[in-house]
Amino acid sequence: MSGSLSRGLLGLGRKTGAAPALARNYLKSANIPLAKYGGRHTVTMLPGDGIGPEMMGYVKEIFRYAGAPVDFETVHLDPTTDNYDDLYNAISSVKRNGCAIKGNIETKLNRPDIKSRNVEMRNDLDLFVNIVRGKSQAGVKTRHEDIDIVMMRQNTEGEYSMMEHENVPGVVESLKIMTDGHAERLCRYSFEWARANGRKKVTLIHKANIMKVTDGLFLEVSRRVAKDFPDIQHEQMIIDNCCMQLVSNPWQFDVMILTNLYGTIVANLVCGLIGGPGVISGINVGPRYAIFEPATRNTGSKLTGSNRANPCAMINASADMLAHLGLDYHSGLIRDAVDTTINVDMVHTEDVGGRATSMDVVQNVINHIKSSTK
Ligand code: NAI
Repeated sequence: MSGSLSRGLLGLGRKTGAAPALARNYLKSANIPLAKYGGRHTVTMLPGDGIGPEMMGYVKEIFRYAGAPVDFETVHLDPTTDNYDDLYNAISSVKRNGCAIKGNIETKLNRPDIKSRNVEMRNDLDLFVNIVRGKSQAGVKTRHEDIDIVMMRQNTEGEYSMMEHENVPGVVESLKIMTDGHAERLCRYSFEWARANGRKKVTLIHKANIMKVTDGLFLEVSRRVAKDFPDIQHEQMIIDNCCMQLVSNPWQFDVMILTNLYGTIVANLVCGLIGGPGVISGINVGPRYAIFEPATRNTGSKLTGSNRANPCAMINASADMLAHLGLDYHSGLIRDAVDTTINVDMVHTEDVGGRATSMDVVQNVINHIKSSTK
């Protein structure tokens, strides 16, 4: 087994997170170096809106205690402008540094000509897959226990092609773009991930019974790719049934491949099953760059400045990023501290049934880091 694959398998042993090691390997194949000066990495920080900036403050504080050799190039995006100078500045920064940590960016101008900055960034950087590992936390009480589902979401085409127009007044169209090449690399990535991480089954989620051409192609490509992975069981399921099955029997799912829109809905559903928007992280990855963020990409605007938001999702995203940078020690230190905080010390914010503040959680994480590095 190659070193990179064994690192991918190591990712499996972690209690939270997806498989940043495999994401890193994918990037290495493009031979683009990550920004590193004097032994320290520089990464782009995009605080975004709502609770994003305060979450980034916690990440910086935790990195300081963990001694993570990372410097941040912070780029603020303005969701109220109708030009994209800030967006292209952010994209240039990610291209320069190789990766970023990100809060959610709102698109406040509700005009059809204004693109979503989140979507445009994913497209420009060719971050073709969004990986979310929805894993139950032993310390968080939910209706279902022991869920562990990895969702591989199409991130650069499908329903989010941002091609909508009005043909004549009262008649509008939205294009859903599906290409064989993009579907194939998403499916191939998902099967390779499943194999490298000891997963047994990949389920493709679709609506090919109605969208026979677009989702039909998605399904056909997955069947074609599956032939190269005879050791992995391949199933398909219609999105409607998938949602019903997820709430009644989520344990049947292992790895899922989803189109763009189905992917965000199902990822939000699974996050809801395992404790909500504040717990787990997600990774956006492509052949050159990677962006790390909370799994559900909420802004949590109503919680801004209230010291009530759950910081664990963003802290887990930062641990994913450290693993991607090859800083496995620092990543493990932070991930284990979060895991102990949630599952052993039971320091919980109100979204997961507790009374702790954001800062209580962060302080608890820092205390564990301090005691592990004495
Ligand atoms: P929201 O930001 O209002 O969050 C939904 C719920 O989760 C709220 O009750 C919020 O208080 C809670 N929440 C969010 N983060 C939390 C945290 N860290 N700890 C505790 N509770 C937390 O979500 P909504 O309405 O989905 O989106 C707001 C903005 O985000 C919109 O501009 C939307 O376009 C954007 N957005 C949302 C995405 C999603 O997947 N939900 C994806 C992309 C953009």
